[in-house]
Amino acid sequence: MTSLSAVHQGISRSGVVAAPYEQALFAELQMAVEFYERAPDALIQILHRAQELFGYLREDLVEYIAHELRLPISRVYGVIGFYSFFSRVPQGKHTINVCTGTACYVRGAETILRSIEKELGIQPGETTADGRYSLRCARCVGACGLAPVAMVGDHVHGHLRSSEIRKTLKAYK
Ligand code: FES
Repeated sequence: MTSLSAVHQGISRSGVVAAPYEQALFAELQMAVEFYERAPDALIQILHRAQELFGYLREDLVEYIAHELRLPISRVYGVIGFYSFFSRVPQGKHTINVCTGTACYVRGAETILRSIEKELGIQPGETTADGRYSLRCARCVGACGLAPVAMVGDHVHGHLRSSEIRKTLKAYK
């Protein structure tokens, strides 16, 4: 297990010094922690920032955040597990979040999800072999008026139809 000081210096779990670009990422995460004054209430925002910077919430980052916010690590993992937008495994280049909230569900979210699964050959929680797409389900992404909705990265795709899935995904190289 990596010591927290090692994490802070950008040293990977294997003990190898991280590439310079990763040290810069750690510095940015540290800035976020300081911006929120290490407030436990800012846990979700800091986890968001960590995932934005590193792509997923790996163990050393979780340890670091729990330590800085003086929270039990079990609490941090509990929050990560509760929210579907957090991931503990590496994600593909493009993350697709299919909304399965109530408004989307009644407007055919299941059909959209099945179409995407079929198109990509993966299930929610998985990543395509070429590392291009990860598929996840979300509860509500706040665009109920556009149901059924899927997000690809930060882009919202509303009023989705199964027949449009292939074309929609192809836009993301
Ligand atoms: S239920 Fe899908 S965006 Fe709200």
